[in-house]
Amino acid sequence: MLHRPYQEKDFIPRSTPELYLDNWNGETYAPSNIALIKYWGKSGLQIPMNASLSFLLPQSITRTRAKATLLKQPAGRVLFNFRFQGAENPDFNRKIAAFFDRISVFMPFLPYYKWEFESTNNFPHSAGIASSASGFGALAKLLIDFEKALYPHAGPDYLYRKTSFIARLGSGSAARSVTGPVSVWGSHPDIPGSNDLYAIDFPFEIHQNFGQVTDLILLLEKEKKEVSSTQGHALIDTHPFKKSRIEQARQHLSGLSASLQTGDWEQFGKITETEALTLHAMMMTSDPYYILMQPSTLRWIKQIWDLRKSTGIPVYFTLDAGANLHIIYPTSYEKRIFDNLEEISQTDKLLNRIEIIPRNSD
Ligand code: DP6
Repeated sequence: MLHRPYQEKDFIPRSTPELYLDNWNGETYAPSNIALIKYWGKSGLQIPMNASLSFLLPQSITRTRAKATLLKQPAGRVLFNFRFQGAENPDFNRKIAAFFDRISVFMPFLPYYKWEFESTNNFPHSAGIASSASGFGALAKLLIDFEKALYPHAGPDYLYRKTSFIARLGSGSAARSVTGPVSVWGSHPDIPGSNDLYAIDFPFEIHQNFGQVTDLILLLEKEKKEVSSTQGHALIDTHPFKKSRIEQARQHLSGLSASLQTGDWEQFGKITETEALTLHAMMMTSDPYYILMQPSTLRWIKQIWDLRKSTGIPVYFTLDAGANLHIIYPTSYEKRIFDNLEEISQTDKLLNRIEIIPRNSD
């Protein structure tokens, strides 16, 4: 059945909660994701400049616990305490305070509680792996679990969409961490149901050639990156290539969607690599310009191109907003790739096994 998108006003509760709980404890997790069609540029309250498409990274996760305690009277704004890997982090506190300000109209029950969060990642934070995606994905899931406890009659479809809607208001890419394994966020003419407010599951059948995909992240740079994604997005407003980028992203998403359906790894890889290079080219041509790749990033790109040329193995790369390289290939080719790229075994890496078509689903 065709999904007719919800509008912003649909996410404002129409009634007061059916009950208030004195104490509530929740725990959940959300995976990170890697965009193949990049979200780069936004307007207003997290409205993307173009539609993006991503794969979930099921083994790179944020796990978060929440405790909500009913206050004697509601506070003027949401009171919270957030600990990440056991400690408070001023950067996170600022981001989460802004998040609560944005979502309070959609979750008016939040200021009635004092919130305590404990969160951990199983991968390095701020290393060009979307930790804000899994972080806000997990927070959104928790808050929706809480909303469900207050409004036990809310429907599952509504709550599913609202989870992505709330996650988006924390970090755009987080909208795609609560759907999947293949998600589309942002309105696109080829993708029915796609919209700017929340991500949806890729709505078409995916070819068997993409059944089991691996995303291998080479951890080439573990330091915090110099320019955050949020700063990078802001530079697109006045970017000289803004208009052509919007058109390119639209065409790329059409092409990638087609390749996933027909099983065409070559077309998939060409678009994926063009997107990664365009993202970084946009950074290099912003005002001010900057570079997030490292010499090792380029060296590895070259190795992947050489390997592909000499063996024909469908192995491609993408990049997030950082120096770390994501190598993407059908999982069945892994041994051949490792045998040919000996240096891989000595390099720090993260493996994500993406079951786009679960093995037992035929
Ligand atoms: C390059 O979602 O981190 O990873 O919405 O400001 O939090 P904010 O930005 P963020 O941007 C991600 C940019 C990207 C591409 C992508 O994930 O689509």
